[in-house]
Amino acid sequence: MFRQLTRRSAVIPQFTRSYIPGQFTGAKKANGKYTVTLIEGDGIGPEISEAVKEIYAAADVPIEWEPVDVTPLLIDGKTTLPQPAVDSVNKNLVALKGPLATPVGKGHSSMNLTLRRTFNLFANVRPCQSVQGFETPYKNVDTVLIRENTEGEYSGIEHTIVPGVVQSIKLITKPASEKVIRYAFEYAKSVNKPHVLVVHKASIMKLSDGLFVETAKEVGKEYPDVSLDYELLDNTSLKLASDPSDYKNIVMVMPNLYGDIMSDLSSGLIGGLGLTPSANMGNTVSIFEAVHGSAPDIAGKGLANPTALLLSSVMMLRHMSLNDYADKIDAAVKKTIASGPANRTGDLRGTASTQHFTAQVISNL
Ligand code: NAI
Repeated sequence: MFRQLTRRSAVIPQFTRSYIPGQFTGAKKANGKYTVTLIEGDGIGPEISEAVKEIYAAADVPIEWEPVDVTPLLIDGKTTLPQPAVDSVNKNLVALKGPLATPVGKGHSSMNLTLRRTFNLFANVRPCQSVQGFETPYKNVDTVLIRENTEGEYSGIEHTIVPGVVQSIKLITKPASEKVIRYAFEYAKSVNKPHVLVVHKASIMKLSDGLFVETAKEVGKEYPDVSLDYELLDNTSLKLASDPSDYKNIVMVMPNLYGDIMSDLSSGLIGGLGLTPSANMGNTVSIFEAVHGSAPDIAGKGLANPTALLLSSVMMLRHMSLNDYADKIDAAVKKTIASGPANRTGDLRGTASTQHFTAQVISNL
């Protein structure tokens, strides 16, 4: 399907499952457990976090949670994280995070962006795989996209020129592009998908997306075993929605906004936002979170699907090399979903409450 397929893979390293190069260097405590920072989040956040905690306790995962408050502080007009939360993440090097709501058009800046900037979480890894036993019009979806996480359209530089005319700056820098693109190559090698696809709109944004594409060409020279190709965003959208199997053995990498939108599109292919996990990778710190938001329409009603946060936590366990626990929880979640509508939440055409689903996962461990 790809034009300009430049290189073919030769020797591919085994899938390490550790999300190298953002590898985990945290230490166990004397009691043999790791401490993980927990940001429960807004809306459905506390409900789905509770499900994760109950399942982890039942699975005897060697983790102690350290809950932190991330209520935004305004310091000198700038949205800031409370210091104890920053200290906790810096100490533990890993966090699991529920969704955080952002006011629209006014109020504090996004705490999601503040977290990503504070810890320089430069790459957002968003895998999307069909869940066996849950039918959608698309079979065997297995995509992964890596979203630049710190700048682009989300740089937050906006101003009014004259009333009725506003300007929003899309910032693309070579260092940030290089970092996320290099990560995409490393990731592609580690998961044995030796093809990187840069998704862009350099036909229109010749300088900004052009720089992203040019940087990929340069970085690609360091990875002779990984092929590199380029595709326009609108084309990728059409092709993904038409036949996602074309993207099975490929790692997509793209600027911030495109990654945000394309990952929701990918979620739709497998059954919705309740299923899709993600990892925000930095140099040393990593924060794992669901792709979805705080779902205010169902918050507090016991209807939320905790799967996306659970699968994000499974990514976290693999990053921490706790692979046996990851496999066990992953299998129990998938078995529960496959067991039918009585054990699935409403977003998956089921009738189960969050609590019922959680109990079923525990019984399937
Ligand atoms: P949303 O993802 O919260 O909800 C979209 C739709 O999906 C809703 O119908 C919701 O009920 C459903 N949904 C989402 N997660 C679900 C789950 N686990 N189980 C069952 N149904 C689920 O998106 P929306 O409404 O646009 O955003 C709500 C708030 O979340 C906003 O303040 C937004 O800024 C924030 N947000 C936060 C994110 C984060 O913390 N990473 C990501 C996206 C949005």
